[in-house]
Amino acid sequence: MNKKILSLAGIVSHCQRNWNEWEKIPEEHVNYIIETCTAMPTKQQKEVYSLVAITDRKIIMELFETAYEEKDYARTFKRNTQVLANLLLVWIPSNSAKGTDTYGESLGIAVGMSAAAAALAGAELGYRTGYCRCINEEKSKKILESYIGKIEKKEIPLMLGIGIPDEKFAYNIMAINGARFGHKISYDKPNRKVYRLA
Ligand SMILES: Cc1cc2nc3c(=O)[nH]c(=O)nc-3n(C[C@H](O)[C@H](O)[C@H](O)COP(=O)(O)O)c2cc1C
Repeated sequence: MNKKILSLAGIVSHCQRNWNEWEKIPEEHVNYIIETCTAMPTKQQKEVYSLVAITDRKIIMELFETAYEEKDYARTFKRNTQVLANLLLVWIPSNSAKGTDTYGESLGIAVGMSAAAAALAGAELGYRTGYCRCINEEKSKKILESYIGKIEKKEIPLMLGIGIPDEKFAYNIMAINGARFGHKISYDKPNRKVYRLA
């Protein structure tokens, strides 16, 4: 039995926090990741999210500055270095989404499914990945809007960095442009209970 997806899931479960920031991911790879994650279904195939795929270093750096937990500013500001990857994906609510499609409804699920596929596709190509949910949504939204125009809804659910790690560091070492400044303690893998009914 080929357990490729299982080994890729093991890779994407870790959050990569340092990168060879100057390297470029081939456009063909970027397109493969985009195609894969947007091929995932949504409920009734409704257009609940849009995807922003960024390789421009200036924009990535601007969004990095918004990737922090508002209530925990001091400890998370400029620390979510997973966002500094060579390719940064940001899921936003679609302007075509009808009604108030918030986290309680399908946005969170659709983004989660798409983001999982993006990370697996990235890992399949040999890249490392790091999710980020610590987002100052108001600030991120403003920056994104300055490049792509008005985003109607307020949520910025998730970011995902995909790229080439900085080989001199373990994955959990936080670094900006090759300069280490700290590390994040790894969480133990939880014992997720599975009820197997046969
Ligand atoms: C949906 C999602 C959101 C995440 N958001 C953050 C985040 O905002 N900040 C952070 O440091 N790590 C974040 N992570 C990374 C996880 O904390 C990490 O993958 C997990 O704890 C495994 O720990 P490890 O990377 O130390 O192995 C997120 C992971 C997922 C799946």
